[in-house]
Amino acid sequence: MRSLSRAIQPLIREALQRAFPEAAGNTRDFKSLFDPSLAPASKPEFGDFQINCALTLAKALKRSPKAIAVAIVDQLNMNAEFLKICDQPEIAGPGFINLTVRADCLMDEFYARLEDPRLGVPLQKGGDIGHEPLVIVDFSSPNIAKEMHVGHLRSTIIGDSIARIFEFRGYHVLRLNHVGDWGTQFGMLITHLKEVAPQALETSAVFDLGDLVAFYRESKKRFDDDTSFQVKSRQEVVKLQSGDQIALKAWTLFCEQSRHEFQKIYDRLDISLTERGESFYNHYLGKVVEDLDASGLLVSDDGAKCVFLEDVVGKDGKPLPVIVQKTDGGFNYATTDLAAIRYRFTSSPKGDGASRVIYVTDSGQANHFMGVFQVASRAGWIPSGTRVEHVPFGLVLGEDGKKLKTRSGETVRLRDLLDEAVARAHSDLCTRLKEEGREEEDAFIQNVANTVGLGAVKYADLSQNRVTNYQFSFDKMLALQGNTAPYLLYALVRISGIARKGGDLSKSMDQCTFSEPQEWNLIRHLLKFDDVILEVEEELLPNRLCSYLFELSQIFNRFYDQLPVLKADQSFRDSRLRLCRLTADTLKLGLKLLGIATLERM
Ligand code: ARG
Repeated sequence: MRSLSRAIQPLIREALQRAFPEAAGNTRDFKSLFDPSLAPASKPEFGDFQINCALTLAKALKRSPKAIAVAIVDQLNMNAEFLKICDQPEIAGPGFINLTVRADCLMDEFYARLEDPRLGVPLQKGGDIGHEPLVIVDFSSPNIAKEMHVGHLRSTIIGDSIARIFEFRGYHVLRLNHVGDWGTQFGMLITHLKEVAPQALETSAVFDLGDLVAFYRESKKRFDDDTSFQVKSRQEVVKLQSGDQIALKAWTLFCEQSRHEFQKIYDRLDISLTERGESFYNHYLGKVVEDLDASGLLVSDDGAKCVFLEDVVGKDGKPLPVIVQKTDGGFNYATTDLAAIRYRFTSSPKGDGASRVIYVTDSGQANHFMGVFQVASRAGWIPSGTRVEHVPFGLVLGEDGKKLKTRSGETVRLRDLLDEAVARAHSDLCTRLKEEGREEEDAFIQNVANTVGLGAVKYADLSQNRVTNYQFSFDKMLALQGNTAPYLLYALVRISGIARKGGDLSKSMDQCTFSEPQEWNLIRHLLKFDDVILEVEEELLPNRLCSYLFELSQIFNRFYDQLPVLKADQSFRDSRLRLCRLTADTLKLGLKLLGIATLERM
C-alpha cells in the first residue's frame, strides 16, 4: 500500500512536466524548482496538502505565480488518476495550491490500515531478502573505567530510537557501541593501581565500577600533577598496546567491570547494543596513516602527522589539522575514527559494507566528525551513493539552566537518575490511586511506576529538538498534561478501557460511517503516520514522531470528549470503535519506535 502523499507526488511531477515542457527538460537548475513535494496544509480548512513550488517557479520562468499555479492546476484537473485521490485543487494567496483528499479515498486508506500491521509504513526496497542495505548506528559509546554520564544517556536513547526506525523499515541495522576502551586512561590506571591496590589488577572480585571510577580520578589527578607518573603511565600504555600480559589482564578486568555496569543500564532501558570498542580498530591504525601518506594527504607538522582540512580554518585564519599520529608515535581518537569509518564502508568480508553510517554524540564533537568525514572522503573511503552523518545533540541542563549536576556539584549518576524517575512516578501513582479510591496490587504499581518513570525520561529526551540544550525536570516529564510520556500513555490507557467495554471488532465487516469533523480530523491525522516515519528516517529527528503522537493524543481526546462512542447508535458506535482501535495501534507502534513501553491500565 502506498500512502496518500506518496501516491500524489508523482502525479504532481507529471503535471509540472506537462505544464512546462521546455523548462522541465532543459536545465539542471530547474530540477530543484520542480519540487513536487507536498507540505501539510497550514490550516485544516485549507485541506490536506499544499503545493508550494509555484512561487519559486514563477521567478525562474518570469511569469506570475498565479499563472504558474493555474497552469499546474489545469494539468492536475485533466488527470483522472489524480481526481480519484483529490478534489479539484484550489489556488490560494499569491499562488499556493491546496489539495484536499477525497473522502472515499480516505475511507479506503482507513480500511487498509485497520488490516495493516505496518500502518502504511513501506518496507525499504533495496537488496534481496537477507541482504538488505546495512545501516550502522554508532551510539551510547561510554568510556571504560569512567562513569556513563547523561550525555551518554541522551546518545543511548536517541540512537536506540533511530535504530528502531531503520529496523522497522526493513534495513539491516548494526547498533554499535564504540566504547572508549583504549588509550591513556589505562596507562594511568594501571600505574596507579600497581601502587595502591595491586590486587585490582588480577581480580574483579574486589572492586566495582564505582571504585574503578574513583581510582581513575585519583590517577588522573596524579597524571596532571606529577611528571614521573606521566612517564610511567605512557610506558604502561605502550606495554598494553604491545601485548604485555599483566597489562592486558588488568585491561580485560576493567572492561568487564565497566561492561557489567553499562549493561545494567541498557537492560533497564531495554536497549540492545553490539560492543565494538576502539581497541577493535587497533590493527588498522598503522595502515590508516600509511595510506593517507601514500595518497599524498599527510603532512608532518612539528613531528606530528596530520591532514590539513580544506575550507576549515582556525581563529588564526590557517587551515585546521586532523592529527592522526602524535609526535611520540601514538594514535588518537581521530585515527581510530578514521579506521572505523573505513572499516564500516569497506564491503564484507573485509569490512561491514554499510550504506549509511550515523554517529550520535553531543554537538561538542561536531568538529571532530566534520574533520574525520572530510579526511575519509578525500582518502576515497566513503563510497559514492552512501551516507555518513553526525547526529549531534545539545547539553542536558539542570532546572537552574546550568549543566546538570547533583546538589553537591558532582556529575549525576545514571542509575540514580533512573531510580529517582521511577520513585517519583511511584509516589505520583499512589497519590492518584488514593484520590480515585482504587486499590491495586503491588506488582501492578511497580510495573506502572517503572514504565511511566523510564518512559518519561526517554520521552523527555526524544521530544526535544535534539540540537538544542534541554532542561531536565522530573516534574515536567512526569506531568499527566502536556507533551509528556504519561499524557500519551494515558491516552492509550483510555482507549484500552473503551476497547474492553466495546468488545472485539476485528471480525466486523460492516462499512464505517463518519460524519463529524472530530472524526475526520482524527482519520486525517492517523493517515499521516507513514509520512512522519519516513521523515524521521530522512532527517533523524525523533522529536517529529513525538510531536505527531502528542497531536494524535490531543485530537483523539477531543474526539472522545465531544462525541459519544460506547453510547452512540450501533452504526456510529462500531465506526467510532474502529477509529479508537486504529488510534491505539498507531500510538502503540509510535511509542514502540521511540523505545517506550506501553500499558493497558495505569
Ligand atoms: N566515547 C566517546 C565519548 O564518550 C563517544 C564515541 C562516539 N563514537 C565515535 N565513533 N567516536 O565521548
